[in-house]
Amino acid sequence: MTDFTAASANSGQSGPAVAGPPPGRAAVVAGIGSYVPPDVVTNQDLEARLDTSDEWIRTRTGIATRHVVAPGTATSDLAVEAGRRALTSAGEPGADAVVLATTTPDRPCPATAPDVAARLGLTGAAAFDVAAVCTGFLYALATAAGLIAAGTAERVLVIAADAFTTIVDPTDRTTAVIFADGAGAVLLRAGEADEPGALGPVVLGSDGALAHLIEVPAGGSRQRSSGVPAAPGEEFFRMHGRDTYRHAVTHMTAACHTAVERAGLRLADIDRLAAHQANARILATVADRLRIPAERQLSNIERVGNTGAASIPLLLAQAAAEGALAPGHRVLLTAFGGGLAWGATTLRWPEVKAL
Ligand code: UT7
Repeated sequence: MTDFTAASANSGQSGPAVAGPPPGRAAVVAGIGSYVPPDVVTNQDLEARLDTSDEWIRTRTGIATRHVVAPGTATSDLAVEAGRRALTSAGEPGADAVVLATTTPDRPCPATAPDVAARLGLTGAAAFDVAAVCTGFLYALATAAGLIAAGTAERVLVIAADAFTTIVDPTDRTTAVIFADGAGAVLLRAGEADEPGALGPVVLGSDGALAHLIEVPAGGSRQRSSGVPAAPGEEFFRMHGRDTYRHAVTHMTAACHTAVERAGLRLADIDRLAAHQANARILATVADRLRIPAERQLSNIERVGNTGAASIPLLLAQAAAEGALAPGHRVLLTAFGGGLAWGATTLRWPEVKAL
């Protein structure tokens, strides 16, 4: 396992010092936008076609409704809407790079980000996808911060979009009631580490020995190279929920401790926890271990379910638009998911209009 510090600050631990970004090279949130497709599926809709109940879904996951794509709608369609809103929010017409976090690209090849960039009028910008499942937004933020720190880009549009319902088995009650579709995006610009919106150190980690806990077995080179067509159902997303649950709590809690420490903060300084909306019980346990009281926890899982990589920026955008997240708040972001992969970072919420 390796933790990667993408931005500034001393780690406060023994070992080599962590260099901060050169002056003017911190990554600063300048705009934020989100998008969910209009179609809504309720727990009652799921009860009608699966061996499940509204009561089970609410008490085990905290979810009541979720948004789903209509047939023919792809991840890029969600990403373009969220990306456009983030650019408008920032008052910026452009970006030098587009980093798209997704587990549901429009197709295996090429990446979806160049298509999204072109549709946003950003032809010519660097554009690539990041595959880190539900932690994708934090991996993309760290990547974007690195592009800015290195001077490769002045402005990076980070989009996280997933159309999970396109890979979930609609007959599998263990995943179909949880995963949903949506997108969120932030525009990052070069700035100073001490200004509002500047990302703190991003802590990232992974454990590939447990890759089997969350996977889509077919569709990649492992099965294709055998020359044998995928068995029925192998192209669907699968999750071992109970084991995943345990690791989610452990790793999000530990990553939060490290991110807060590396930012030179204490947990008591945190005004808002914005955790990947995996399951309301996981979020409550993580917050409890961090001693972050309920009024400091942001949550929208009841309305949107688990939207994969999109979860955190969608949460931030909705919370900011509704006033639950306000300028000046110290926010702690954390995520966990397939890979396994996890991460956390901090920032002070800037004056931005969330769209
Ligand atoms: O976003 C990426 C990371 N993902 C996560 O972090 C998700 C982690 N895991 C979870 O959120 C939870 O494990 C689940 C929500 C997936 C499942 O909740 P659980 O409390 O861990 O339930 P379980 O898997 O232990 O299943 C309990 C029972 C089982 O029945 P038995 O064996 O006790 O008779 C399941 O068959 O609930 C049953 N069950 C259901 N019952 C009604 C499983 N799914 C359903 C369902 N409706 N949809």
